[in-house]
Amino acid sequence: MEMKRGKWMTLVLALVLFEFMCHRICASYIPEDSYLIACGSSKNVTYQGQTFVPDSGHSSLAFMSGNSVVVSSNSTVPSSIYQSARIFSGISSYKFDIKHKGRHWIRLYFFPLPSSGHNLSSAPITVVTDDFVLLNNFTFKNYKGSYLFKEYAINVTSDSLTLTFIPANNSVSFVNAIEVVSIPDIVLPDQAVALNPSAHFSSVSELALETVYRLNVGGPLITSQNDTLGRTWENDVKYLLVNSSALNVSTDPSSIRYTTTVTVETAPNWVYATAETMGDANMNSNITWVFSVDPNFGYLVRVHFCDIMSLSLNSLVFNLYINDHIASASLDLSSETGGLNVPYYEDFISKTSADSGTLTVGVGPDTAADITNATLNGLEIMKISNEAGSLDGISSVDFFIPKTTSKNKVGIVIGSVIGAVAVVALIAFCCCWLAARKSKTTQQRHPQLPLPLYGNSLTVTKTSTNSQKSGTASCISLASPNLGRLFTFREILDATNKFDESLLLGVGGFGRVYKGTLEDMTKVAVKRGNPRSEQGLAEFRTEIEMLSKLRHRHLVSLIGYCDERSEMILVYEYMANGPLRSHLYGTDLPPLSWKQRLEICIGAARGLHYLHTGAAQSIIHRDVKTTNILLDDNFVAKVADFGLSKTGPALDQTHVSTAVKGSFGYLDPEYFRRQRLTEKSDVYSFGVVLMEVLCTRPALNPVLPREQVNIAEWGMTWQKKGMLDQIMDPNLVGKVNPASLKKYGETAENCLAEHGVDRPSMGDVLWNLEYALQLEETTLALMEPEDNSTNHIPAIQLTPLEPFDNSVSMIDGVNSRTDDDNEDAATSNVFSQLVNPRGR
Ligand SMILES: *[C@@H]1O[C@H](CO)[C@@H](O)[C@H](O)[C@H]1NC(C)=O
Ligand SMILES: *[C@@H]1O[C@H](CO)[C@@H](O)[C@H](O)[C@H]1NC(C)=O
Ligand SMILES: *[C@@H]1O[C@H](CO)[C@@H](O)[C@H](O)[C@H]1NC(C)=O
Ligand SMILES: *[C@@H]1O[C@H](CO)[C@@H](O)[C@H](O)[C@H]1NC(C)=O
Ligand SMILES: *[C@@H]1O[C@H](CO)[C@@H](O)[C@H](O)[C@H]1NC(C)=O
Ligand SMILES: *[C@@H]1O[C@H](CO)[C@@H](O)[C@H](O)[C@H]1NC(C)=O
Ligand SMILES: *[C@@H]1O[C@H](CO)[C@@H](O)[C@H](O)[C@H]1NC(C)=O
Ligand SMILES: *[C@@H]1O[C@H](CO)[C@@H](O)[C@H](O)[C@H]1NC(C)=O
Ligand SMILES: *[C@@H]1O[C@H](CO)[C@@H](O)[C@H](O)[C@H]1NC(C)=O
Ligand SMILES: *[C@@H]1O[C@H](CO)[C@@H](O)[C@H](O)[C@H]1NC(C)=O
Ligand SMILES: *[C@@H]1O[C@H](CO)[C@@H](O)[C@H](O)[C@H]1NC(C)=O
Repeated sequence: MEMKRGKWMTLVLALVLFEFMCHRICASYIPEDSYLIACGSSKNVTYQGQTFVPDSGHSSLAFMSGNSVVVSSNSTVPSSIYQSARIFSGISSYKFDIKHKGRHWIRLYFFPLPSSGHNLSSAPITVVTDDFVLLNNFTFKNYKGSYLFKEYAINVTSDSLTLTFIPANNSVSFVNAIEVVSIPDIVLPDQAVALNPSAHFSSVSELALETVYRLNVGGPLITSQNDTLGRTWENDVKYLLVNSSALNVSTDPSSIRYTTTVTVETAPNWVYATAETMGDANMNSNITWVFSVDPNFGYLVRVHFCDIMSLSLNSLVFNLYINDHIASASLDLSSETGGLNVPYYEDFISKTSADSGTLTVGVGPDTAADITNATLNGLEIMKISNEAGSLDGISSVDFFIPKTTSKNKVGIVIGSVIGAVAVVALIAFCCCWLAARKSKTTQQRHPQLPLPLYGNSLTVTKTSTNSQKSGTASCISLASPNLGRLFTFREILDATNKFDESLLLGVGGFGRVYKGTLEDMTKVAVKRGNPRSEQGLAEFRTEIEMLSKLRHRHLVSLIGYCDERSEMILVYEYMANGPLRSHLYGTDLPPLSWKQRLEICIGAARGLHYLHTGAAQSIIHRDVKTTNILLDDNFVAKVADFGLSKTGPALDQTHVSTAVKGSFGYLDPEYFRRQRLTEKSDVYSFGVVLMEVLCTRPALNPVLPREQVNIAEWGMTWQKKGMLDQIMDPNLVGKVNPASLKKYGETAENCLAEHGVDRPSMGDVLWNLEYALQLEETTLALMEPEDNSTNHIPAIQLTPLEPFDNSVSMIDGVNSRTDDDNEDAATSNVFSQLVNPRGR
């Protein structure tokens, strides 16, 4: 009896406990990480039911800063959270310990408090995380609102999150409050449907999101205290294209039946309990909402539905439109959810309609169905970070804070060990070589321009040769006495009108490229490296060393450089017609003719052929792509960007479709697998360029159906069928000599061979392209269309290669000695790019 009662009690207790726990778990989500910070405040601040604690003396929050000033004000502020602020006069960071990796909300509150000694209205605000740029140069000056609230969702993959505030020169930055709060993993998607053309889109979780609109359609404002994840949902009426098109309906929020996949964390029941439907007055028209958005970004659009108005199943069927394209056709909520009052959502990725700067979402009757009604309950629009890892502008984090992570420190330690060994060997080598050379030739008396290793931090005097470091530097300068002109920073500033943003030609991992004009009116392109950027220094040196020795009509020539004040600036000849890619797609430039395309490809091939064979030891470009083939004012193609320095995405390339996996479309699969680099890797990349030139589409386009994503594969499929004309640029159809196209297709096919040994040399490629041009120019009647004639076209004269500058021999010597090192360095560099696709 006693025993039985005991058991019974335990059971009851267990049930109660279960009830209790379930209630806690089911009822409200408790974030693992939850930081609510009232910056610069001296006391707790309660805002919308939540307590924000002062940033001073917070236990697991490190505040790393040079200078900060605290202000608090009694003057009229929008709400309590904006009463205090912290003002930074130098680069300053908050570091948050993160217990649970995954998506976190970052919410930032800004209000330019008066009476702080600074005019905060005109202070530019730039905020970055470890990997993403959140705000770039925002000021209240041109802003209509009085305060600024921003919400981001960032996937934190390490144990901490750093928020860094970067003031502009001679100004300050500030922030009033910060929230960093975990988001349940199921809330934000990794996959979505990309629209126009429709395709599967994955890896959303690697990108940063910024909430731009969140609507409780047909319902009232829901503030953060009524949302378990602290979100705010506003009413939709002010975004309606035609207000009278919509009629609001609502039901009892407690009647919403959540499922395992759609929970209260997806959206509060108040969102699902209200909706807009079609008003009777406007039968047969869509309900459309219009949002203004930054057209340079992609957007994640989440539409929330719940059939709260039907009386029976399957009596509501409608279409969903995003940017006037059908996103979901004949959507029958009942068949998706299996019931009424059951919430449901769908995710889409949308680029904004090309040039309008607006994003529209609409629901409307499905003409195929016999039902004329439609509904929408909620809508979220989130901006997706671009290729530079930015949500605001085109600069990446490295541009604002060059990396100084522990990884780099390790790199420096290892680097110095290897470096020391190499330096000793080099010095020995240099001395021998020097002695040999002195005895052979009269010494040129060029001024020596050693390259400091680290901007001005390691200033190598121009004469000293006895320290180890300067030994290396002057060794290189001895080998190549003519590194081009050494510009002063002043001259660069004058040439670029102080780096005027209106002269910006492009932006990339290395830095920014500006158009400049020298005092003698020569037009130049000025590439300014991010100070001490990760890849920057090595690339800067490689590029100078390579280019100063290479002179060829089809290689972009280096005019000079500037390394004053830790700047890394390269000055090139100006290429008036810009990158080849911009003449292929993504711009309004007129399409190139087939002959022009062939001539451009031939020019680029000639440049690469020179690289591969012009020197005793061949030089592998390693980054052949359409953005690295530049066109001068006569459309003469020149290969650019040596030493792996990257000009990065073109300005028109910031949209998400290419951000997914970086631009790996050019990478030789064999090199990728076996990590062995040969000239044939350039040949492969050039094959991709040939396909791109023919089909005028990017090498990788993740929004296309899977088999079409990679142009190399897609092009090969059609080439093998002999039907390349099916996928070529429509502008060329009917305007290309079929024999020329055939030759071209075969050349591309050979370049794209799986194994390097099966690919032709650049010389063969060049020859075949010359032949294709010949076929285009000659009438078919005179020429055998079959390729047995390949071997004999007397008319074709290959232009002889320009003589190669002897001074490269020193570099060759160095290369051959440390050949393996170079290859390793080269390989690891590529893999660092793979690991970190953001930089691309
Ligand atoms: C401020 O809020 C924190 C957390 O809610 C609490 O632990 C602390 O006691 C509060 N401090 C004051 C001064 O109210
Ligand atoms: C601001 O308010 C505090 C109390 O909240 C008060 O002590 C202080 O005098 C006020 N300052 C001004 C300038 O009104
Ligand atoms: C602060 O700067 C803004 C914009 O430059 C200006 O309109 C405003 O008058 C300035 N306020 C003060 C107090 O100087
Ligand atoms: C920031 O924006 C202002 C205009 O609001 C502009 O004059 C300035 O050049 C920008 N600064 C940077 C670094 O982009
Ligand atoms: C800020 O000042 C530093 C040093 O004077 C200069 O190198 C840098 O270019 C300046 N930045 C801007 C955005 O003007
Ligand atoms: C965060 O990113 C990591 C690595 O990319 C991924 O494995 C994880 O699923 C992501 N988490 C969320 C919630 O998206
Ligand atoms: C719903 O519509 C009615 C009548 O048009 C309007 O008075 C009410 O404010 C609307 N409710 C919401 C939440 O928009
Ligand atoms: C929001 O929460 C407050 C207090 O908890 C409650 O009074 C109010 O009705 C709620 N409003 C909505 C729209 O949920
Ligand atoms: C449409 O909505 C806007 C904003 O709510 C309002 O100003 C306007 O008067 C409305 N127009 C009609 C015809 O209801
Ligand atoms: C759509 O459904 C709502 C709610 O049932 C109803 O009020 C409205 O009249 C319907 N509209 C049309 C065009 O049938
Ligand atoms: C709804 O919008 C789509 C896209 O703009 C359009 O094709 C369709 O004709 C519209 N339907 C109605 C009934 O106006």
